[in-house]
Amino acid sequence: MKSIIPCMIVAASLVISGTALAAEPAAGKSKCNMCHALDKKIVGPSFMDISKKYKGVPGAVAKMEANITKGGAFGWKFTNMPPRGMGANNAEIKEMAEYIAGLAK
Ligand code: HEC
Repeated sequence: MKSIIPCMIVAASLVISGTALAAEPAAGKSKCNMCHALDKKIVGPSFMDISKKYKGVPGAVAKMEANITKGGAFGWKFTNMPPRGMGANNAEIKEMAEYIAGLAK
């Protein structure tokens, strides 16, 4: 029993550092990253800039999900975003909206 406790502490701290780094979901890499990056503009605004826009906005995740699904222009004055990026499904869009919402602390 004594040897189990330090292992549990290590495992718990791995979980905590994992959430702090929040890796981008796989769907983002294949369906969004040709136009978006974490911290720089490509064809669209950076995910960090989007996260800052939605910081403190009630229902931010749902609003982003709706915008990602329908695509179009959202006032960034870039070009229009294609609906669902490069074909993301509803679960992937939800996952990405949650990831983006969690970026700006
Ligand atoms: C072909 C390029 C392209 C792809 C692929 C793309 N986007 Fe975009 N996205 C854009 C552009 C351009 C804008 C900014 C539109 C404007 O000027 O208002 C944008 C804006 C956004 C916004 C901001 C919405 C708002 O309310 O301000 C979010 C969130 C977003 N994209 C998420 C995603 C996600 C998630 C994916 C992948 C599923 C994705 N995008 C794929 C081009 C793209």
